[in-house]
Amino acid sequence: MNGRVKRVFANLAEEVDAILLINDAEPNIDQSFFYVTGLESGLFEGCFVILWPDGSLDLFSSKLEETSARSVFEGVRIFDKAADRERMLRESLKGVKRLGLNGAAITLRSLREIKKAVPEIEEVDVWKALERARLVKDDDEIARIREACKIASDVAEEIPDFLTTGMTEYEAAAEIAYRMQKKGATSPSFDPNASFGANSAEPHHVPTNRKLSRGDCALFDFGAKYRRYCSDITRTFFSGKPNEDLEEMYSIVLEAQKAAIRMMRAGVKAKDIDVCARSIIDATRFRGRFIHSIGHAIGLSVHDGGRIAAEESFALEENMILTVEPGIYVPGIGGIRIEDDVRITASGCELLTTAPKEMMVI
Ligand code: GLY
Ligand code: MN
Repeated sequence: MNGRVKRVFANLAEEVDAILLINDAEPNIDQSFFYVTGLESGLFEGCFVILWPDGSLDLFSSKLEETSARSVFEGVRIFDKAADRERMLRESLKGVKRLGLNGAAITLRSLREIKKAVPEIEEVDVWKALERARLVKDDDEIARIREACKIASDVAEEIPDFLTTGMTEYEAAAEIAYRMQKKGATSPSFDPNASFGANSAEPHHVPTNRKLSRGDCALFDFGAKYRRYCSDITRTFFSGKPNEDLEEMYSIVLEAQKAAIRMMRAGVKAKDIDVCARSIIDATRFRGRFIHSIGHAIGLSVHDGGRIAAEESFALEENMILTVEPGIYVPGIGGIRIEDDVRITASGCELLTTAPKEMMVI
């Protein structure tokens, strides 16, 4: 993992003597902790790692995670009581003047603990360097995301086989989670979203006991986590022949999604991808009904930084892995979204989620 620590330092806007990544209790676990350590098993609440400019790191773990930590880092230092932990923080940061911290993940409680242990330290927020380092995936990360995408994509392909009228959103979401885990997912990458009929007009709908009826659209947004890495896919189906609005919405979203994917390659500006899809949708009577950005990076987190949005001027780079997910949402009628995950290459992009996406009536 030495190369990853170096990548973080190489992306810094200003120099620091060391970087401290510190976890609080769940859910305040910093995924960058796993990026630099590569630890696959364990939760690591309250644990911390110090990164040094030469690419080395020192890991500090609670007794609870000792087995997982030792399997990768023989030299890990183990703490038991809070006082041990504070002493280790103080001793290991001796001589450090400027300390990098992840402002996007650290809690106020942890920050106060650090200030108590080493009051003289000057803290520097290095969240942007961590995000930039994590945006471009290495071979090991790509292999894991590829598998996470395959699992989710295989389940998406099975939806028409198990979806029936009368099924509730709860049941459909549970079936998706179950099937992903049976295929080797560690867990879903987020709670699966199954939205029927008008509920699909809300992009982050949470499943309910609403039953699927003839004429409904059925939107599924879910992903698998595989060895800590996430995928994210959305497919929208129709139960029986859809009304004309929904059918038209589907063909516009599909056209916008395909156009966006066609232009994705290293060097293209993120904002231009968003503009491309949005201009296709906004040229129709559904103008203004695409109410989120076109995509985001995936990785250790399902929203792994790197939004592809009209305000984002960064250029795509080889081995960034991004979602492409235009949608049209009409309250009271329904929503259509089609989402795939792609890996950017020098000449285009590799589609990692390959489930069919032509309009399908079940
Ligand atoms: N899959 C949920 C989202 O991207 O917001
Ligand atoms: Mn997404």
